[in-house]
Amino acid sequence: MAELKTLDTLDVAGKRVLVRVDFNVPMRDGKITDTTRIDRALETLNELAGKGAKVVILSHFGRPKGEVHADMSLRPVADALAKIAGKPVTFADDCIGAPARDAIDAAPDGGFVILENLRFHAAEEKNDPDFARALAENGDIFVSDAFSVAHRAHASTEGITHFLPSVAGRLMQAEIEALTKALDTPTHPVIAVVGGAKVSTKMAVLGHLCEKADQIVIGGGMANTFLYANGVGIGKSLCEKDMADQARAIVDVARNAGCEIVLPLDAVVADAFAEGAASKTVALSDVPDDMMILDIGPKSIADLQGRLKAAKTVLWNGPLGAFEVTPFNAGTNAVARTVAELTEAGKLLSVAGGGDTVAALAGAGAEQGFSYVSAAGGAFLEWIEGKSLPGVAVLMSV
Ligand code: 3PG
Ligand code: MG
Repeated sequence: MAELKTLDTLDVAGKRVLVRVDFNVPMRDGKITDTTRIDRALETLNELAGKGAKVVILSHFGRPKGEVHADMSLRPVADALAKIAGKPVTFADDCIGAPARDAIDAAPDGGFVILENLRFHAAEEKNDPDFARALAENGDIFVSDAFSVAHRAHASTEGITHFLPSVAGRLMQAEIEALTKALDTPTHPVIAVVGGAKVSTKMAVLGHLCEKADQIVIGGGMANTFLYANGVGIGKSLCEKDMADQARAIVDVARNAGCEIVLPLDAVVADAFAEGAASKTVALSDVPDDMMILDIGPKSIADLQGRLKAAKTVLWNGPLGAFEVTPFNAGTNAVARTVAELTEAGKLLSVAGGGDTVAALAGAGAEQGFSYVSAAGGAFLEWIEGKSLPGVAVLMSV
């Protein structure tokens, strides 16, 4: 079986090591609002520095589409890294050519250098081989630690590996180990929790999970479409009516694969999606025509908690209700806390990721309790769709 190449196999002392990270951190008014992606990259960066490498950091930021935009510079990120790492970080104002080379030459062994936003060059997203070569010229070894961009075949995630010895960093390694444990070699029973607003964005995920999970719990706005497809009156709820046939088809695929699709048993409804809107719990047969479903109710929560107690592995993507607004986060919070408690008691392996999931789990105070919470959005989804990620495929030994 192909195996992931890791830092364990390399001697990096005195070498220039190019590390592709994902420092595409959330920023408001020039201030970073969440440093998780920087914090998590530190393990690899510190290990390399500790082994005497010159650590040359590559990242994209935002979507500048091949043009230099001052507000998408990585300079503020370099300052944040210096603070978090507690050491000076050199910044080079281009990721290729003389500015990069000079900054790297001047840096000491064990030092950190950040090169400017890769996406200031259109050639990055085009995976242009000349650009990949120009990046590679500034290093001796390439370490890929950006799982969250690994679904993109870009020069810094795929192309560069054709020019340098290339391995996965510790964060990439942890992401892949967690996902493999939850999805490819899991202990059964496996429960997949799939929430979020739209079924249409999760069709491939659901199709793939039918083959992997014993039960798929459908939550969020998506569940309304399944309920509607079953003939349940859902009032003014968010629903993709044109997806009803496909929802029914997924239920058939699941049944044939021996996988149970689990839908809500009751609902919390309100007449508006707004903080403090008057809400009540109703049976699914009693959703008023002029109200909308915004969360699962207590019967559904108890049902899911019972199922989780009998499970060994949980894969979680997406919230169960409209978690951004209180009290419609109650279902997500209660179920997420149960997963965290069972995990902390050693009864469950739990892996979560994708889009809103991290925010929803953090809001529940459950994030720390999960076995692993991925920092990736699109890449996590493509992995659970069963796709091969170009930035991972190039790191496998044959
Ligand atoms: C992300 O934030 O999802 C990753 O950094 C990838 O960014 P992208 O969607 O612009 O490629
Ligand atoms: Mg994205």
